Amino acid sequence: MGMKISVCGKGGSGKSTLVSLLASEAQAMGLRVVVIDSDESNSGLFRMLGFARPPVPLMELLGGKKGLKQRMGRPDVLEETRIYVENIPPQHIAHRDGLALLSVGKILQALEGCACPMGVLSREFVNKLKLRENEIAIVDMEAGVEHFGRGIDTGIDTVLAVVEPSLESIILAEKIKGLAAGRNSFWAVLNKVDSEALAARLTAEMEKRGVDVIAAIPTDPEVFEAGLEGHIVGRGKASAEAKKALDFLLSKQRGIGGDLCA
Ligand SMILES: Nc1ncnc2c1ncn2[C@@H]1O[C@H](COP(=O)(O)OP(=O)(O)OP(=O)(O)O)[C@@H](O)[C@H]1O
Ligand SMILES: [Mg+2]
Repeated sequence: MGMKISVCGKGGSGKSTLVSLLASEAQAMGLRVVVIDSDESNSGLFRMLGFARPPVPLMELLGGKKGLKQRMGRPDVLEETRIYVENIPPQHIAHRDGLALLSVGKILQALEGCACPMGVLSREFVNKLKLRENEIAIVDMEAGVEHFGRGIDTGIDTVLAVVEPSLESIILAEKIKGLAAGRNSFWAVLNKVDSEALAARLTAEMEKRGVDVIAAIPTDPEVFEAGLEGHIVGRGKASAEAKKALDFLLSKQRGIGGDLCA
């Protein structure tokens, strides 16, 4: 069975960067990768993944945000009980070399209000998405913890919290672990960590708070440049750590019994 990973953490900590790095490592391993952009506020992920334009948001399948709001009371936001990648209408899924990108929806107008309907859609979609043996789904979450209140993580196997060197980021990761409350496996990935001493210090700090660290991504000029120019994140020194995190998760998955074969 495939694996569903969500990447969360503080605003600007590097969630989309980690999603892109994990996606390209999984792609290089020969896995089919499905990236789900569940962050309603930011719109740059498609560029980081090397797409010229984003797919039409899934929200449009349901008549946009207005239509979605009207349907919220119904238990089935999406009609199908199981959704396979190949059944998603082509305009809602962008493909590139074994990599697929989906977007839940974006808040485009300032006064559009609460993102809740999109949170519900994210949860329903992620829950219903059925992955094949060689598929992996990576969900880019919005910053903060609001989405946990909407139960978005219920269909997720592994939650990764990105932790940058700040107390706020550390505290948020601890809080997220509390909210995930043992429903899924939970790990931290450090980001923007440039010395072994700092990595050791943050790892110890996280361990004190009951969170294990599985990788420490350094500040990478290539990642910085990609962010500045709005292009695909290359496979530089940050990738090696993302690969470490992915290898760890895949070996855990095999240990649990499911075999995610390359
Ligand atoms: N390891 C890194 N090395 C260099 N630059 C980095 C690194 N990680 C992230 N950045 C840069 O920091 C900025 C924020 O990263 P990113 O967009 O991945 O964060 P985010 O958590 O997804 O933010 P948001 O909460 O706004 O969605 C980007 O410009 C990115 O290029
Ligand atoms: Mg982001």
